[in-house]
Amino acid sequence: MRESAFGTDRSIQEEIELLRSAERGLRNRGIEQADIAVVLGSGLKDFAAGLEEAIELPLHSIQEFPKVRVRGQGGMLVQGWLGETLVHCLTGRVHLYEGYHPWEVVRAVHSLAMLGTPNFFLTNAAGGIREDLMPGSLMLLTDHLNLAATNPLVGSHNESLGPRFPALNEVYDPRGRKVLRSCDPGHGLREGVYAQLLGPSYETPAEIRMVRTLGGDAVGMSTVPEAIALHAMGCRVFGLSVITNRAAGLSVEAPSHQEVLDETIRAAERFEVLLNRAIPELAMIRDPVKKTRAKRTKAKGPKKASRKTPQKASQKTPPKGSAKDGGKRSKR
Ligand code: HPA
Repeated sequence: MRESAFGTDRSIQEEIELLRSAERGLRNRGIEQADIAVVLGSGLKDFAAGLEEAIELPLHSIQEFPKVRVRGQGGMLVQGWLGETLVHCLTGRVHLYEGYHPWEVVRAVHSLAMLGTPNFFLTNAAGGIREDLMPGSLMLLTDHLNLAATNPLVGSHNESLGPRFPALNEVYDPRGRKVLRSCDPGHGLREGVYAQLLGPSYETPAEIRMVRTLGGDAVGMSTVPEAIALHAMGCRVFGLSVITNRAAGLSVEAPSHQEVLDETIRAAERFEVLLNRAIPELAMIRDPVKKTRAKRTKAKGPKKASRKTPQKASQKTPPKGSAKDGGKRSKR
């Protein structure tokens, strides 16, 4: 049964049961708390191929996860090592425009956060609005405009996924942006505000003028639900757009999915160099002041019922050996 994005009759308790069940499924297949998770947008899946000692899991093998259907997305969860950093890669996501409920859109990242992974790097393809955001540019997200007319926190509420009214002043971690800027090979990394519209149609030129007036620098159809849900849970979020085209009305060509895929492939090398350099450093950022934080499990501790829900706002101390604890773990 599909419900609308505004459906409020779903019980958050049922959703939490699904998340717990997904978490169990992941653990049973060898997926555990990583230092950082990377969500790879359309055409960006090759980064995952560079991970060592990889476990590769088709996302459809976790029955609680909605099906990834968009061309250009890999549909896999890959867990592997980048040096001393344990990384999850999701090569595919589901979108609001596919008709999925916002809770379904964020379910995979929620499940990884419930495993205890504290850092999330969200990537996407986007159309450039600001003049300097030409195809091939990489843009760090400084903020977003949620123009998708929904929010993953709509509906009944459970404190274990974050507060009822989370502040969104700093969704995209500023220290992460500093790290990413210092790791950029060409030092041409841009920064800007990402506007998410619902899609799946590309925008009209009038809508692009509206987004520009509202302060949007680039436009796309993903990322914002995940960023809101993860930030609310207390996870650290980094965002990066690969600019694949000039937004509608700003070039003679109308945007097309093929152009988006082709341009992402062209930008992939620079994107991968940046990620390879930045990910180990991003995973080590420490944050003693965050109010809420996803629960992290100790690397090999015994399972307890109480460890199956994310850490509450009041539980602030990261476990020893976690990325935020500054601890490095040896390879298992
Ligand atoms: N608009 C919306 N989404 C996009 C675009 C665009 O121009 N390019 C890549 N994803």
